[in-house]
Amino acid sequence: MAFSHIIHVTLSLAMCLSVAAVAGAVNPGFVVRLTQKGLDYARQEGMDVLQKELGKVHIPDFSGSTHSPVGKIKYSFYGMAIRNFQLPSSQISPVPNVGLKLSISGAFIEITGKWRFKTKLHISFSGGFDVKVQGLSISVGLQLGSDGAGRPTIAPSDCSCHISDVSVHVSGKFGWLVDLFKHNVENALRKAIEGQICPLVKNAITSKLEPLLQTLPVTAKIDKVAAIDYSLTGPPPVTSECVDVQLKGEFFEMSHRTPPPFSPPSLSLPAEHNLMIYFGISDYLFNTAGFVYHSAGKLVFNVTDNMIPKDFSIRLNTSSFGTLIPQLSKMYPDMLMKLKISSNSAPFLDIKPGNLTISPNMDIQAYVILPNASLAPAFLLNVTTTALAKVAVSSGRIVGNLELSRIQMDLKHSDVGPFSVVILNAAVNYYLSHILLPQVNDILQKGYPLPMLDHLQLTDVVIEPRENFILFGADVHYGETEDNWLVELY
Ligand SMILES: *[C@@H]1O[C@H](CO)[C@@H](O)[C@H](O)[C@H]1NC(C)=O
Ligand SMILES: *[C@@H]1O[C@H](CO)[C@@H](O)[C@H](O)[C@H]1NC(C)=O
Ligand SMILES: *[C@@H]1O[C@H](CO)[C@@H](O)[C@H](O)[C@H]1NC(C)=O
Ligand SMILES: *[C@@H]1O[C@H](CO)[C@@H](O)[C@H](O)[C@H]1NC(C)=O
Ligand SMILES: *[C@@H]1O[C@H](CO)[C@@H](O)[C@H](O)[C@H]1NC(C)=O
Repeated sequence: MAFSHIIHVTLSLAMCLSVAAVAGAVNPGFVVRLTQKGLDYARQEGMDVLQKELGKVHIPDFSGSTHSPVGKIKYSFYGMAIRNFQLPSSQISPVPNVGLKLSISGAFIEITGKWRFKTKLHISFSGGFDVKVQGLSISVGLQLGSDGAGRPTIAPSDCSCHISDVSVHVSGKFGWLVDLFKHNVENALRKAIEGQICPLVKNAITSKLEPLLQTLPVTAKIDKVAAIDYSLTGPPPVTSECVDVQLKGEFFEMSHRTPPPFSPPSLSLPAEHNLMIYFGISDYLFNTAGFVYHSAGKLVFNVTDNMIPKDFSIRLNTSSFGTLIPQLSKMYPDMLMKLKISSNSAPFLDIKPGNLTISPNMDIQAYVILPNASLAPAFLLNVTTTALAKVAVSSGRIVGNLELSRIQMDLKHSDVGPFSVVILNAAVNYYLSHILLPQVNDILQKGYPLPMLDHLQLTDVVIEPRENFILFGADVHYGETEDNWLVELY
C-alpha cells in the first residue's frame, strides 16, 4: 500500500484540497465540494489513525513521600503502560471562514502499572494497579489555506484537552495504604496526560496530514503538449454546510503558457448534500483544452485513401472525385488525393442543462498527390459542424465522446474552377463521421485526470450538465483495489 493509514484522515479532505494559486476574485475552473457527509467519512477513517497516534502518550513514573499511619513512607508508581485507548465519539464540523473543528468526547484510557513503597524501617511492599482515565475530551481546529504554489495547507489551531475523571485501583497486600495517597497520583496523571494530548494531536496533523496534502500534484500532465493546472485559486471557502476547494482547472501549453482569451464563468453549485463529494467541472476546463490544442496546431488531421474502408465508393482519388468535379480528373488524371482537416478556431463546448454541444469550425484542404509525391492544392472548404458531446467519468478520469449532428460547408477557394459544394456533401459527411470522428473520440476516450488521490472508489455516482458546468457527485470509499467504473452522462 503506497500510503500509510493516515491517508484515511485526509481522504475526502485531500481530494477536496487537492490542488492553486492566483489570488483575487478569479472564478475557478474546477470546484471540489466536500459535504458534511464527506467530512464524516474522513473523520471516521481518521479516528483509527489518531487513536494509534495518541497511544504514543508517555506515562511517566511518579514517586514521592507521604505520612501514613505507619509513619513516613516513600512510594513510587512505575512501569505504566496503556492497555486500551478508545475514541468512541467524535464530530467534525465546518467553521465558516476558518476551516474545520474536530471534537472528541467520552474518550477513555486504561493503564496498568506497578507500585512499591518503603517504610522508614526499610520494609518494602509492592503490587499492581490499574488506572481508568475517563471523560477525556479534545477539541482542535483545522485551519485550511493554500501556499504560494497553490497547494492546500492544513494547520492545527486552538487545541484543548480535558479529563473529567482519573481513578486508580490498587491491588496487592497493603493496597489500602496506597489508597491514602493515590489522589496525588491521580492528579499527576491527569496533568501528564492532558499536557501531552494536544501536542500529539498537533503533531499528527503537521507531520502526517500536511505532508500528504503537499504531495498532491498541482499540475496534471496530459501529453507532450498540455497539462492541467489544478492549483488552488485561494484558501478554501468554508460555510456551515461544506468546504469548497476551488481549483484553477485550466489547460495550458507546457512549452509556452499564454493566458486564454476568455475567463471562467461563475459556477453555482446546487445546495445538494446527499453525497460525500461534488465536483463542478466548468466549461472553462474544456474550452482551455480546445484553446491550447488549437493554438499549438494540434487540431490537424490528414485523411488519405488508405484510411477509407474498402466498401465506401467515393475514393480519395481524382477519378472518383472526377465524377463529382470533372475538371479535377481532367487536370490530374487518375491520381491519389489527400485531405488536411484543421481547426479554424478553438472549439467551444457549450454546457446547458440537458445538453452539451460543441460546434467546431474547420478548414478542409484537398490536395492532389502528384506522381513526384508533391501536393497540388485542389480546393478549400470551410466546414462548421455541430456535435453532441457526452461526458462520462471512468476510473478517475473525465472522458468524452462526440456525435456529429449537423455539417454545413462552403467552398472557400478552388484551384480547379468553380463547382457546387453540395455535390461533396455525401463524401465530406462520410469522411468526417467515419474517419475523423473515430480519431477524435479515441483521444477523448483517454480523457483527463480528475484531481483525486489513488485508491479511491467512487460509488453512487451522479453526473449531469448544469448551466456552464458539469456537476458530478459521488460517495467515496477508500480501497486497495483500483477503481474501475464508468458512469455515462446520458
Ligand atoms: C499531414 O501530412 C503532412 C504532409 O502532407 C505532414 O507534414 C503532417 O505531419 C501530417 N499530419 C499528421 C497529423 O499526420
Ligand atoms: C480511384 O478510385 C477508383 C474507384 O472509384 C479505382 O477504380 C481506381 O483504381 C482508383 N485510382 C487510384 C489511383 O487509386
Ligand atoms: C439540446 O440541443 C438540441 C439541438 O441543439 C435542441 O434541439 C434541444 O432543444 C436542446 N435541449 C435542451 C434541453 O436545451
Ligand atoms: C513535382 O511535379 C510538379 C509538376 O510536374 C512540379 O511543378 C514540381 O516542381 C515537382 N516537385 C518536385 C519536388 O519535384
Ligand atoms: C465559411 O467562410 C465564410 C467566410 O470566410 C463565411 O461567410 C461562412 O459563414 C463560412 N461557412 C461556414 C459553413 O462556416
